Amino acid sequence: MKRLNSQLQDDGAPLELILLIRTLLAGCKEISFRVSQGALAGVLGSTLSENVQGETQKKLDVISNQILKDILIDSGYVKALSSEEEDDVVPCNPDGKYLVSFDPLDGSSNTDINSLIGTIFSITHAPQWMDPDDPSAFLQPGTQIVAAGYVLYGPSAMLAMTTGKGTHLYTLDKTHGGFLLTKPNIQVPQDTNEYAINASNQRHWEENMQEYVGDLLAGTDGPRGKDFNMRWVAAMVGDIHRVLCRGGVFLYPKDARDPDKDGKLRLLYEANPMAFLIEQAGGLASTGKKRIMEVMPTDIHQRIPVLIGSKNEIETCLEYYQK
Ligand code: AHG
Ligand code: MN
Ligand code: MN
Repeated sequence: MKRLNSQLQDDGAPLELILLIRTLLAGCKEISFRVSQGALAGVLGSTLSENVQGETQKKLDVISNQILKDILIDSGYVKALSSEEEDDVVPCNPDGKYLVSFDPLDGSSNTDINSLIGTIFSITHAPQWMDPDDPSAFLQPGTQIVAAGYVLYGPSAMLAMTTGKGTHLYTLDKTHGGFLLTKPNIQVPQDTNEYAINASNQRHWEENMQEYVGDLLAGTDGPRGKDFNMRWVAAMVGDIHRVLCRGGVFLYPKDARDPDKDGKLRLLYEANPMAFLIEQAGGLASTGKKRIMEVMPTDIHQRIPVLIGSKNEIETCLEYYQK
């Protein structure tokens, strides 16, 4: 089976980017090992601290963040990094060529129930003019990303990765420690009868989302004329993996709970990398108003509404936003 290294070479990735990706994934393998040890390694449960977004940090949030931070700083390839678990950008090597943004552990609420979690990342070029502690260089639209992916810590540890030449799925072979290509050039089916949304927020949604989901729920009795199935993993990484594998739409729309927050998910290290992966697999990713990857970020922890998945179904959903 083809190894990650040779797929990255075939896709034309420069050597230093390949080395950076391999370094980052070495960190993910370490996280995968810690996760699999669970209670035996004392990694479950919460800390007493909160991150910049006011969320109580799980022990695994802190451990995963530290593992990735240490390995990236040590590598020399990275000028600065930004993470969900870091208030500010973290300066690394002033001569580093790349910027990395990551969600070290997505789906933290699943850690204590032995359910799906993952790591999400994206990589851009570091501008030469940039000071390593200057956050403004991170405020580039997703169209500037040179590589993005996630590692899903599930029954198998799987990597979804793109450098702009299609989205490929790899499985971690724990016997020799390498990611092997198990699904090249995955394509998201254009049509679907499956959607993912946290329906407990329904009363807070805007009218267009109320109407769209109302019509999905009406099934064969409503204007869509077919029944839809619903799934919610409570980890974007798990939901997006399902969408990549068998189609569907994943929705975390803007809602009225907190007028200061434009949605729940973060643009730099959740929405953008997933949008890149899904677009490279033939799907669509929108805020409801525009393509996610064209949004110009204003803050490294900026939140954004997310509508991602099967092309035809996202287009149908967007018709409700254009009404
Ligand atoms: P994180 O664990 O990194 O904070 O992200 C959790 C996110 C995302 O992965 C998931 O889709 C969503 O929060 C779940 O939100 P609900 O609490 O509404 O289920
Ligand atoms: Mn997350
Ligand atoms: Mn997280």
